Order: sequence, then structure tokens, then C-alpha cells
Amino acid sequence: MATWYNRGMQSSTSADIRTIRLGFLGFGTVGEGTYRMLVDNADEVFAKTSAKFEVVRVGVRDLTKVRGVAAEFITDDLRSVVLDPSIDVVLELMGGEEPAGEMVQLALEQGKHVVTANKELIAKHGSRLIGKAKSRGLDLHFEAAVGGGIPVVQPLKHQLAGNDVIKMMGILNGTTNFILSKMEAEGADFGEVLAEAQRLGYAEADPSADVDGFDTMYKISILAAICFGKQIPLEDVHREGIRSVSAADMKYAKQFGYKIKLLGICEEIGEGEVMVRVHPTFVPLGHQLANVNGVYNAVWLHGDFVGDLMFSGRGAGADPTASAVVGDLIDVARNMVAGGSGSAIPYGVGMRVTSIKELESRYYVRFEVEDQPGTLGDIATSFSRYQVGLAQMEMVTKVGGKGEIAFMTHVCQEGNFRLALEAVASLGCVSRLEGWFRVEE
Ligand SMILES: NC(=O)c1ccc[n+]([C@@H]2O[C@H](COP(=O)([O-])OP(=O)(O)OC[C@H]3O[C@@H](n4cnc5c(N)ncnc54)[C@H](OP(=O)(O)O)[C@@H]3O)[C@@H](O)[C@H]2O)c1
Repeated sequence: MATWYNRGMQSSTSADIRTIRLGFLGFGTVGEGTYRMLVDNADEVFAKTSAKFEVVRVGVRDLTKVRGVAAEFITDDLRSVVLDPSIDVVLELMGGEEPAGEMVQLALEQGKHVVTANKELIAKHGSRLIGKAKSRGLDLHFEAAVGGGIPVVQPLKHQLAGNDVIKMMGILNGTTNFILSKMEAEGADFGEVLAEAQRLGYAEADPSADVDGFDTMYKISILAAICFGKQIPLEDVHREGIRSVSAADMKYAKQFGYKIKLLGICEEIGEGEVMVRVHPTFVPLGHQLANVNGVYNAVWLHGDFVGDLMFSGRGAGADPTASAVVGDLIDVARNMVAGGSGSAIPYGVGMRVTSIKELESRYYVRFEVEDQPGTLGDIATSFSRYQVGLAQMEMVTKVGGKGEIAFMTHVCQEGNFRLALEAVASLGCVSRLEGWFRVEE
């Protein structure tokens, strides 16, 4: 077995030391990072748990890869890890819905605690799996599933649990934040920055999970579920990615005093009802989230007693994510040493998600228009027919008798705003609806 002893342990008697046996499922970026942290920081971990860890088995897909752990521990038989009676804690660090879901379920049925970094699994099956863990007095922790190294799941479960969280907004995906930050800094368009991000290894060859907002949707849904005690039906979450953001929108955002960020947002609408949405958003330059750039992540929230709060840091990468996984593991170890369990948070079902059409917000919108007398008046009249008031405007003349107009509206209902957009886009003086985004204040 891979065991690590250290200075602190040598001064303890063997009776004081609890040995905790680990089975890894997945030994990629996060798996290797977690193993390295357990070895490098063995003193810290022991001092905080009075436990020593042994790696018993490591389940992977490809047996030919060279790994930072002895080959004798490696297997491609995942069930042999989960069914090994000597293993106390399973670290699920593979990702994806299956076989991760089946293995986590089996691990819990075998009486093993589980630590996972898998946002998709928890967003889709958190209620069932946490229920299973709870019914067996086991721990199921998932800090690394949201925000990588940023501690946000545990603070929401514990230190902030007494608050009514009125609203939460997060920059939860480093790839999209890197792309948007670079577009803003360089005045570049989405396609060219995506290509560069792929070259640098910040974006996958298939970038859909990031740029189409799925990753952010899973993460904000997990945070919402912790705040409100019930799993969020993902099919009801409004999700838009960043493919529609252009260099022109970035320029107007700056002129109006905003930055464009991909936000996951959740807010309580009524008893048992929330609005959860993911979309590119105009964020005021003075808001803390506007200054979170590059691959950094952040979660901002407003609680009724705590007020405004923001957590920020590195949302991905081997080391920050390992930090969250090992933090969870330390929690499990402490519970094992003390004879308790720490996953007993409510995580039921039955949450209702309000339609985005009910949203009350300000909006940014940009049209290409005929540069002729009366255009502005016709557009303003069409908006006002649907109770959409215009607050600010920027207009430029283009070649060929065309112009471009960008508006910021007053607060209005999204259903009305969408009807107004259809009406304006059908005016003879409007050539094209170029784009529109929601605005946070
Ligand atoms: N990377 C990050 O910065 C980060 C941050 C936060 C959360 N996470 C989450 O952490 C988890 C792991 O991510 P990662 O970046 O470490 O992924 P990764 O580098 O691709 O590693 C995945 C590991 O799981 C193994 N694996 C995957 N599918 C398998 C299967 N069907 N059967 C057996 N083994 C399988 C792989 O085996 P092989 O090595 O043989 O291919 C590999 O060892 C995911 O849930 C991810 O969302 C990652």
C-alpha cells in the first residue's frame, strides 16, 4: 500500500493514529494533484486529522499511461475499487454522469464515504446520492465541484446556513471568463479568442460544455440547491452561452459603464420557487464581479444577515482543485475519528424554477438601422407600446446609408421586452437586430 508517514506521526503512538484507506476513481489532473497534495502536505493533514491515509487502489481507463503512483495500485476494473472491503473513502475524480454515478452509488451501498469533484453528477443526481449517504450515516462531499479551489460549498452549508440568500451570482467557468476578458482587453471577436484559448490549452477541442454554459449551469444549480435545500430541475434552468457576444457589444458595454461576464444567477422568487439562469450579463464596472478576470472564478451573494459577500480564486487546475478535494477528505477523516457524519444537509426535490419571461431587468440591445429621419422615433414608439422605456442610447453612422443604435432600457419584464424586440425588428427602418443582453445593477 502507498502509505506516507511523517514527522508528526513519528511522535504519536500507533494507538493514536487512525488509518484511512482510499480508493481513487480517476487519476488525471485532479486525481494526481490530490495524491501529490496528500504526500507533500502529509504533516498538515495529519496535524488536522490525527489520521494517516493509505492509497489502496486507483481506477483508471488506460493502463498504459505513466502515472505518479506505483503501477501495482492501478486497475481498470472500477468495481474492484468500490467493492474492496478495506477501502474507507472513495474519491470519484473521473467526471461525467456514468460510470461515475453507478460507482458512487455502489460505494455508498458498500458503506464507503465519498468525495467527488463531479458537478454534472451532483447537479443531476445530488438529491438521490445525498439521500443515500444520509440514510447510511455516510459523508458525501463535493466542494471541488463548484469553483475549484474556492471554498463556497462548505460555507454555504455551514457558516452561511442561517441566512436567507436573496441572490447569488457567479463567474463559475474559467474558460469563458478568459475568453471574455481577452475580447474586452483586445477588442477581438469570439472566434479568434476561442482559437487562441484552444491553442493555450484553456479551452477544449470541443468547447461546448464551457462556451454554451452547461458547466456554469451545473455549478449554479448545485449552489442554488444548497441554499434552498432542494435539487434544481436542470431542464427548467435558462441557459445561454457566450457565442453571441461580439467585439461591438464589448465596446458599447464599456461606453455604458459595464463589462460583459457569463454569470450563473439564482434568486428566490417565492416559497419553494427560484429563478436560476445562465447568460452573458452586463455587470457594472463598480461591481466586484466586474474585476474578476482571466481564468479566475468568483461567487458573489447577498444574504439577509451577512449582507454582500464575495469568494474568489482559482476555479480550476490540479493544485486548487486538489486543495478542495483534500479539504473534503479532512472533513471525512475528522468525522470518522469523531464517529459522526457531515453530509446531513437537506437536498430534497420539488423546487420550482420560474420562467425567464417573468424576469424584471434592464436590457442592452443593438440594431443596424436605416440612417434616415424618423428611425429613432419609430423605435422608441414600438418599445413604449410594450412598456419598455429607453434610458440611454449610442448611435453611429455607417457606410451605405446605414447606422447602428445601441440602447439601455429601464427595468421591464422580459416577456414584454421580447415582444417589443419582435415589433422593432419588423420596422422598415430596422435592418437587423444585432444582439441583446440582460443588465445587472
Ligand atoms: N481539471 C480541473 O481543473 C477541475 C476543476 C474542478 C473540478 N474538476 C472535476 O474533476 C473531475 C476530474 O477532472 P480531471 O480534469 O482530473 O479529468 P481528467 O484529467 O480527464 O482525468 C479523468 C480521470 O478519470 C479516468 N476516467 C475517466 N473516465 C473513465 C472511465 N469510464 N473508466 C475509468 N476511468 C475513467 C481517466 O482515466 P485515464 O487516465 O486512463 O484516461 C483519468 O484518470 C471531473 O468531474 C471534473 O469536472 C476538474
